[in-house]
Amino acid sequence: MRTPIIAGNWKMNKTISEAVSFASELKDRVAGVKNVDIVICPPFTALAKIADALSGSNIKVGAQNVCWEEKGAFTGEVSVAMLLEAGCTYVILGHSERRAMFGDTNETVNKKLKAALRNGLLPIVCVGETLEQREKGVTQDVIKGHVQGSLAGLSEEEMKKVIIAYEPVWAIGTGKTATRQQAQEVHLYIRNLLSGMCGKEVSDGVCILYGGSVKPENIKDLMAEQDIDGGLVGGASLKPDSFEKLVKFNER
Ligand code: PGA
Repeated sequence: MRTPIIAGNWKMNKTISEAVSFASELKDRVAGVKNVDIVICPPFTALAKIADALSGSNIKVGAQNVCWEEKGAFTGEVSVAMLLEAGCTYVILGHSERRAMFGDTNETVNKKLKAALRNGLLPIVCVGETLEQREKGVTQDVIKGHVQGSLAGLSEEEMKKVIIAYEPVWAIGTGKTATRQQAQEVHLYIRNLLSGMCGKEVSDGVCILYGGSVKPENIKDLMAEQDIDGGLVGGASLKPDSFEKLVKFNER
């Protein structure tokens, strides 16, 4: 069985002190939650302090990007070893904002993914179509390109560690969530693609998260779908109160 994952992507929000006070509050609010993997992904600067504040809790920490190189002359980049030492368990890769604004491509996402897997950092690989692509009817082609390109060349053992986040770009930060049927359709398509790449048994174990205006009001419905295994949440992860409700989707 796939354990649900609720991951908060804070993007470029919260200073170190804001992040730490959020973490201390969230820790108490979700202390009793079992059977859900809870992750928060703050900006790089807050990672070490937040990981300290959360040590021994049921909340794990993730970064929002990483470099594929180990060390050296790569100004502005952060390595996998640096993230691990800062206390990270996860890393988000290929988010649509990075693909659209900072040059991430399937090739660079693939290199980052392999660097993360080599060193035991769990990758959350983002894929998703724009509104224009959906309206042109090429959603599946885009998803196929993202999945097969970003995940190229992985062994079955590596594939078992990968988490995928389907995030339709038109639903991110717009308040416009994909319907549960629209999301499920793409999630199933992704699972079938994975099955073609690494077999049904492995693909059945891969967690596929949905992202794009996930809120306390719609999480339960989304989670009821067969192939939706969790959420990657931006806006609604920034307040302890709404993040707690998301994590406790099962209890309402
Ligand atoms: P949103 O962002 O929940 O604010 O739509 C999701 C994401 O970009 O990961």
